[in-house]
Amino acid sequence: MGWNSLALTHDFMARQVRPGDLCIDATAGRGRDALLLARLTGPGGRVIALDIQPEAVEATRSLLAAEGVSGWAEVLQMDHREMGALAEPGTVGCIAFNLGWLPGGDHRIHTAAETTIPALEQALALLRPGGALSLCIYYGKENGYGERDAVLRWLAELDSRIWNVLRLDFPNRKNDPPIPVFIQREG
Ligand SMILES: C[S@@+](CC[C@H](N)C(=O)[O-])C[C@H]1O[C@@H](n2cnc3c(N)ncnc32)[C@H](O)[C@@H]1O
Repeated sequence: MGWNSLALTHDFMARQVRPGDLCIDATAGRGRDALLLARLTGPGGRVIALDIQPEAVEATRSLLAAEGVSGWAEVLQMDHREMGALAEPGTVGCIAFNLGWLPGGDHRIHTAAETTIPALEQALALLRPGGALSLCIYYGKENGYGERDAVLRWLAELDSRIWNVLRLDFPNRKNDPPIPVFIQREG
């Protein structure tokens, strides 16, 4: 696989997720991350994918059904700001966030700092020791730069005794390349 953000985050998830894990896709979109998580957890695990947009919920449900994983991977239409209610604290193996807008959808509907930061806070509380969050920051155009800047500030303040934070960038790539970030809770 090449060095694009999707491949990097998928490599990370493949190292991270154990069969039988509970995993959450906080921005389901068209379901590519939810599908990978479901393949990695296997039928003994559970995946919950969320999105606020009906179009994304439908697209993800169809993909999961077509790929035969919907027995253990469900899709909910909900705001990820509420994700703390989905599981007990300290029980989730991997959580995926892809900021930005639905690929091929309405660019005016996108993630925003006011909801992303509270959602990330809740996501960290859900992670088990050794569990991790994969975050891909898409920014620029309709999204602007405010969300990216708020998330990068938030990352820099995470307690280094508990959180390993890794941020990648593409210094010679033009046009606002995405920023892959991985956060792991010390095991
Ligand atoms: C970049 S896309 C996700 C792409 C997806 N991972 C994929 O593989 O296709 C971002 C998604 O976040 C969703 N979204 C935006 N704000 C949200 C919120 N507050 N809660 C849940 N989903 C949200 C959008 O509807 C959009 O589908």
